[in-house]
Amino acid sequence: MPVPDHDSSSKQDLSSRQVEELARLTGELAHEIKNPLSTVKVNLKLIAEELDCVDSDTGAGDSRQRLARAKRKLTVIQQETDRLEKILEGFLKYVGRTELNTARTDINELVGEVVDFYFPQARSHSITLRQSLNESPLICKVDSAVMKQVLLNLFINAQQAIDRDGEVIIRTGKSGTDVRITVSDTGPGISPDKLPRLFQPFFSSRPDGTGLGLATAKRIIEAHGGKISVASEPGKGTAFTIELPLLTEQ
Ligand SMILES: Nc1ncnc2c1ncn2[C@@H]1O[C@H](COP(=O)(O)OP(=O)(O)O)[C@@H](O)[C@H]1O
Ligand SMILES: [Mg+2]
Repeated sequence: MPVPDHDSSSKQDLSSRQVEELARLTGELAHEIKNPLSTVKVNLKLIAEELDCVDSDTGAGDSRQRLARAKRKLTVIQQETDRLEKILEGFLKYVGRTELNTARTDINELVGEVVDFYFPQARSHSITLRQSLNESPLICKVDSAVMKQVLLNLFINAQQAIDRDGEVIIRTGKSGTDVRITVSDTGPGISPDKLPRLFQPFFSSRPDGTGLGLATAKRIIEAHGGKISVASEPGKGTAFTIELPLLTEQ
């Protein structure tokens, strides 16, 4: 007897309208969860303050131990609610705001501003942040605010990978009719089996990561008509490359 092909008999592709509807609903769901979650957070803080007022020096040894255990459990719940909030915020950034507020922008200037902003944080991790910019301006039509967010995310990822002592270099240049921005680091690199999953939502190798940074970056770059890619050599470092269409002067 032939075995029914489960995939082809039951799988029905979603229409693009259904996908849009699903995206809208999941965004709304994330919003809906945010409000009760902040109520939970406020009340947890109040309980923590109440417990801090309980004098741990009085009472029998048994009740002192119970109090200490309750405080530890409360701390775990507070950490987990913080994490939930971080995931929700990351998710809302990932599904949210697709309309871009674009303007004619010199990518060299934009990169310079992000480098100036991030410089102190890099230094506090003993990381040398260097820039090597194209000698002439590179004009693209971009939403500066979201583009800066993308570059900042790449810097933060590089810093988290290096941890301490290393180098991050950002370069700009031309490649045909595109602008090319490369962020490379001297971190531990990424193993080849992980590379294909890097831009997928929720892929993370960090215990406190959400795995939404690169997925959001990809979405933003593609909304600008560009591309983002990664190359990495374990033990040597990683380089992310963004390509954006150059604005043809009119
Ligand atoms: N510069 C880098 N060097 C090494 N690994 C990286 C680098 N950037 C990203 N990664 C890997 O890609 C994963 C996904 O990154 P991201 O989407 O920003 O999520 P998160 O930072 O929350 O983990 C990281 O957990 C890490 O494993
Ligand atoms: Mg990240």
